[in-house]
Amino acid sequence: MDRNKVICRCFNVTAGAIEDAVKSGATTFEDVQAKTSCSTGCGCCEQDVRDLINELAK
Ligand code: FES
Repeated sequence: MDRNKVICRCFNVTAGAIEDAVKSGATTFEDVQAKTSCSTGCGCCEQDVRDLINELAK
């Protein structure tokens, strides 16, 4: 995984930031939103965020 890849352009949230949120206890999309603010703007990154969370949960 490229940790520097920007997943949410509205809030400049990288894959690494989402990974860190999951590692620090976020288990749901809503948890990750609360920790990183990702996907709280236009929402167009939602599927990518969900896919990444699912990937990290494996
Ligand atoms: S790109 Fe994530 S909320 Fe807009």
